[in-house]
Amino acid sequence: MDNSSLDPALAEQLKKLQQKYAVMGQDLSSYLDGLLYSDYLTYWDYIHLDTLLSLQNPKTRFPDEKVFIIYHQITELYFNLILWETEQLAEREKLDENFFAIRLDRINRYFEMLVDSFTVMVEGMEKDQFLKFRMSLLPASGFQSAQYRLIEICSTDLVNLVHVEFRESLLEYSDIEQQVEHLYWRSGATELASGKKTLTLQQFEEKYMKLFKEIGMKYRNKNLRKLYQTNFPDSERIKSSLKTLDQLANVLWPLAHLKSAGRYLQRDPDDIKATGGTNWQKYLPPRFQKIMFFPELWTEQEKQDWGKAGVLKALDV
Ligand code: HEM
Repeated sequence: MDNSSLDPALAEQLKKLQQKYAVMGQDLSSYLDGLLYSDYLTYWDYIHLDTLLSLQNPKTRFPDEKVFIIYHQITELYFNLILWETEQLAEREKLDENFFAIRLDRINRYFEMLVDSFTVMVEGMEKDQFLKFRMSLLPASGFQSAQYRLIEICSTDLVNLVHVEFRESLLEYSDIEQQVEHLYWRSGATELASGKKTLTLQQFEEKYMKLFKEIGMKYRNKNLRKLYQTNFPDSERIKSSLKTLDQLANVLWPLAHLKSAGRYLQRDPDDIKATGGTNWQKYLPPRFQKIMFFPELWTEQEKQDWGKAGVLKALDV
């Protein structure tokens, strides 16, 4: 084919490509050769399907363990998308209201997916199987989900993640070390009898505490709460999306999750053994922890009623 018969649109594309490669000192023709010899992309390669489906390795022969593993993996993928959106917000050079609102809507959509699908856990496994395979997984627990903690850290100031008993007394600008010391989940995971840290907590801290402090420092001026307070303190649209996020992340997901603990761990006093060691009846209900990413958006009454059934109805969810 000579140049004169070359489609002008194609010739224009080639010219642009040549310019693009020339800027980097690259020879377009070599890259075109590469294109000539390379295979077409396939769906299965693009999403790494074989790798994805090789990541489920049950510890027992109980079939429902696969449901448990895959649902945790799905959740972690959504957590990752949530963190991906928060990172884009934090790194945005000029954050405008529309961009902020659209990303918050996305985050809320991901959380809604997680809340709505939690029945996969609550309804979707045989209790007898669960109670057996869960024993093979100790001391691992979803409690050790680092992405869950990172979502918290990227959403609000650390003081709002401090155990409710110390929250009032630790000023917003108190030392980050002090705040980290009293994070609510660190107090939650102590053995009832001895008051010692559970092994689940010890291992989690060893692996991730350094990262959590770093991210806490990095996000102290660009977590979602700070972005809202600094840029759009009066925007009703942003406030409404943040309130939805607070309900989803800190009431509705915890309640959906709590239901699964209620279904599988409820009656037998020995059931505590099938957990990472917390007194989950005291630890998991949102009405005890009262975690709120954006406390200033709620009335005193709403704060008091946090996580109680009545508040959910009142909020029309
Ligand atoms: C049958 C299903 C489940 C049961 C019975 C269950 C049970 C528990 C229990 C008892 C705890 C308290 C910590 C402990 O003692 O281990 C806990 C914490 C936790 N679990 Fe699950 N869980 C289930 C599914 C999931 C799933 C699918 C996820 C998704 C990643 C998850 C994530 C978490 C997180 C993030 C915490 C810490 C919550 C907090 O600190 O407020 N769990 N879970």
